[in-house]
Amino acid sequence: MLVKQTLLALSGGIAIVHAANSWIVPGAAWMSTSNTKIDAHGGMVIKEGDTFYWIGQAASHEVQPYLYTSKNLLDWEPSNNPKNTVKWMWRPKLAKPNGSWWMYGQIDRNVQALKSTSIAGNYALSGSKVTLPPNSYTYSDTGMFYDEADQTWYLLTSADHNNVQINKINSDGTIGSRVNLLAKGAYEAPGILKVNGIYYLIVSGKTGWRSNPNSMFWTDKLNGGSWNGPYGIAPEDKKTYNSQNTFQLTVKGSQKTTYIYMGDSWDSKGGPDSNYVWLPMNVDTNSKRITLEYHAQWKIDVNTGVVSFPSKKRRYEAEHAEIVGRAAVTSCEHCLSKRGVHKITPDSQVVFYNVTGLGGRQWVQFHYRVKDLESGEAYVNVNGGPAVNISSLNHRAGHHDVVPVALDLEEGAVNKITFGVSGRNQAEDLGVIIDGIEVVED
Ligand SMILES: *[C@@H]1O[C@H](CO)[C@@H](O)[C@H](O)[C@H]1NC(C)=O
Ligand SMILES: *[C@@H]1O[C@H](CO)[C@@H](O)[C@H](O)[C@H]1NC(C)=O
Ligand SMILES: *[C@@H]1O[C@H](CO)[C@@H](O)[C@H](O)[C@H]1NC(C)=O
Repeated sequence: MLVKQTLLALSGGIAIVHAANSWIVPGAAWMSTSNTKIDAHGGMVIKEGDTFYWIGQAASHEVQPYLYTSKNLLDWEPSNNPKNTVKWMWRPKLAKPNGSWWMYGQIDRNVQALKSTSIAGNYALSGSKVTLPPNSYTYSDTGMFYDEADQTWYLLTSADHNNVQINKINSDGTIGSRVNLLAKGAYEAPGILKVNGIYYLIVSGKTGWRSNPNSMFWTDKLNGGSWNGPYGIAPEDKKTYNSQNTFQLTVKGSQKTTYIYMGDSWDSKGGPDSNYVWLPMNVDTNSKRITLEYHAQWKIDVNTGVVSFPSKKRRYEAEHAEIVGRAAVTSCEHCLSKRGVHKITPDSQVVFYNVTGLGGRQWVQFHYRVKDLESGEAYVNVNGGPAVNISSLNHRAGHHDVVPVALDLEEGAVNKITFGVSGRNQAEDLGVIIDGIEVVED
């Protein structure tokens, strides 16, 4: 009890029951306030009043549009989902031309529109599926952009013949004329961000569910302006941190404006195991470039716009843990203490004893590397529970040195956290080296 009270005081009263959702964790399974996995892929976030609404396609429910609401961009509550109205609608997006709420998404490579009187109300089909002006184009990916300058909503699409099209949404909700076109290569998953009068278009390459290096283009005129680019938005080999663009969210706070990249970290078939990669974006208005700022854990104060990172962590070094089997301590250049544990064969384990927990779900950062990204499936188990592959808790497993996973810890210095690797050959060194773990307490 003492531990809890002290932490409450130190962390400014953040409720410990929400510890697991107190951060945005790119690649990690993101749980709703109902403790269900958030199922809203290829989506967008829009603010109405003091509430953020996240709409996306539900991979576990026949690709119906699912809606979640939040006041802080961290804790998302499942909302009245318009799920019985429409199925197999990909990348649903919301717009509000002329006061009514509209939803647009792709069905059978056509645009289906639905209309509602309120954002979280019941959306009814509005007309039948249509193709895109000017040439009856069909398309695959829906994006959405609202331009405050002309108070107009724009539907972004990946249309036939590798055209990324931008069409105006008319005030009666119909899809209007095409105002711009990017015909420079094979791109999809478009999103637009506007900063200081410049329009930045972010698109992915076309590689199915596999991630690729997403790109950006810019123009100073949405209506007919030509696009400069492509330019990368992250180191090419990171493949957009294993994600695909879906939307650009602007949060105007009292202290600063923060731009958020929303991406999908798809599983191998766009199914329910898919996760999300949200990251702050750095916009260099001089060179007109956008880069993603990678953080293993971060959050934004939606009132001030300020981004922050975990500051209270307890660290446990792997070389001080109990080492079972063939694994051995080694010097390690990138490790914080310059030492780590390597040669972790499937019959070895690194066991951290007496790890302090707050009682409940907490983020634990695993600091480890693997020889190559596809090898070295590492697992964790807590207090003798079942072993869980880290990749099923966080898609960044093996792709990044710091992999936060949400674990249920008991209160006090009583937890036993076991780290190991799986493989068929009990004696095979899968090339994993573990530096240590850090238990996040804020
Ligand atoms: C826009 O909304 C107003 C008020 O509801 C309505 O009278 C008007 O017909 C609408 N315009 C279009 C083009 O739908
Ligand atoms: C864990 O804590 C208990 C109780 O303080 C102590 O007896 C034990 O030696 C500790 N174990 C390790 C591995 O440090
Ligand atoms: C963990 O990964 C290994 C290796 O890919 C696999 O054989 C095993 O079935 C996985 N375990 C679980 C619980 O998914």
